[in-house]
Amino acid sequence: MTQRPYVVDEMISAKAIAARIEALAHQIEQEFADTEKLVVVGLLRGSFVFIADLVRELDLPVEVDFLEASSYGDKMESSREVRILKDLRGGIEGRDVLVVEDIIDTGFTMSHVIHMLEKRGPRKLKVIALLDKPTRREVEIRADWTGFEIPDEFVVGYGIDYAQRNRNLPYIGKVRFT
Ligand code: IMP
Ligand code: MG
Repeated sequence: MTQRPYVVDEMISAKAIAARIEALAHQIEQEFADTEKLVVVGLLRGSFVFIADLVRELDLPVEVDFLEASSYGDKMESSREVRILKDLRGGIEGRDVLVVEDIIDTGFTMSHVIHMLEKRGPRKLKVIALLDKPTRREVEIRADWTGFEIPDEFVVGYGIDYAQRNRNLPYIGKVRFT
């Protein structure tokens, strides 16, 4: 698919992201201080950089698993219909679970995923999102921890894509069409 030409303007620096993750990791360690093992669940694909940095800041026994929900495709709008494309490898009944998401936008994806995982009977289930666009919310849902609240802009970088591009940028930037 051909894309309209655009540039990426830096919005959150790599340094600011790293500092924020360090602070959030301390809060997560406190919340799960008594855990036998924390299952950290990354939502593919956008959270892969975030989860990699986050787990390395966590001084807890962790396991890592991944879940893939249907996404935007190449569009900039939510389809509002969420399908599970890849489920977890492991069970979570009676387990401590931390779901790691890149962005909560309309809230449809996170709401669907949480309801599905809650039915499996985890001991404790918490959610962390790197970014939150609260003004875009259509489903009432909140992360337990949020990295940064951002305005209604389409962003890329640090794992997050536009039509599969720009995931490798070390910072988060907004897409500006030229
Ligand atoms: P929601 O279901 O509308 O909350 O959509 C959440 C998902 O949409 C996120 O996990 C992202 O994959 C994607 N998304 C939302 N906003 C953006 C953006 O600004 N850039 C890239 N992907 C986004
Ligand atoms: Mg996503």
